[in-house]
Formats: sequence, C-alpha cells, structure tokens
Amino acid sequence: MSVERTFSIIKPDAVAAGQAGEILAMIQKAGFKVLALRMTRLTETQARGFYAVHSQRPFFSGLVKFMTEGPIIVMALEREDAIKGLREVMGATNPANAADGTVRKRFATDIERNCIHGSDAPETAEVELRFFFSTSELQ
Ligand code: RTP
Ligand code: MG
Repeated sequence: MSVERTFSIIKPDAVAAGQAGEILAMIQKAGFKVLALRMTRLTETQARGFYAVHSQRPFFSGLVKFMTEGPIIVMALEREDAIKGLREVMGATNPANAADGTVRKRFATDIERNCIHGSDAPETAEVELRFFFSTSELQ
C-alpha cells in the first residue's frame, strides 16, 4: 500500500453540534496528515452535483436538504491506505451498525445525519478533491 489522498466532509449536523474539533482529533490520531481544510456552505446545486451518484435514490432530496442546512468543513487528507483507513475511522453509514470507537458510533444521529463523509475509491477521491480544492492548495 502506498501513501494516498482522500477527501472528507464534516457534515452540517456535526459542525452545528460543535463536534468538528473532536472529529478532526480522531482523524489526526489515526495518522492522517491534513493537506487542506476549509469551512464552507454548499449551495443546492453543489450538493446535488457532489452526491449525483445518488440522484435516483429515494433519500436524495433529504440528503441535499441536510447537506445544505449549515456550514460544513471540507478536508484533503493524506495517509498510507487513506481511503479505506478513513472509512474505518468513520464507521458504517448507519450508526446503528457502526463499530465502537468510530466517528459515526460516537456522534451520528441516524443513517442520514451521520456526521462525516469520506471518499469510497481512488477515482472518486480525486474528483471530490478537485470539487473543493485547487492544485496549489493540495501541495
Ligand atoms: P458518504 O458518501 O457521505 O461518505 O456516506 P457513505 O458512503 O457511508 O454512504 P452512501 O451510501 O454513499 O450515502 C451517502 C449519504 O446519504 C445519506 N443517506 N441517507 N436515508 C437513507 O437511507 C440514507 N442513506 C444514505 C447519508 O448521509 C449517507 O452518508
Ligand atoms: Mg458514499
């Protein structure tokens, strides 16, 4: 396994609840280097574009509403085996199924309001990093 990059979002529920600092600490304790980080707020168009892969799913409109309800924190992260490793730190999509010690087990409310996003493959990681960060920010 080589060093790779992944993309993460601390979602509006966690930012509003003041959990961003603890979530970032969990990520850093797991060995991730923060390459870039910014607080922002998604427009509806951005949220629909970011989650376009889910546009035909029944939860899509709820997901877009949730992701635009308040500020988020976007992050570019680097580590050995970063994509799989971050998803281990996150825990299962549904917090009811998330392992002890994961972000979603500790902080998520339900399958939708689940605190954190992480890329699911190298190709999506690169697309998602480009969605939010310029080349100079990722050096
Ligand atoms: P993410 O993309 O945000 O990292 O989450 P994930 O891979 O664990 O889950 P995914 O299947 O990609 O779903 C994206 C996000 O949509 C919301 N969701 N709601 N109501 C529902 O049944 C439902 N299912 C998914 C969650 O916010 C999920 O993280
Ligand atoms: Mg996903």
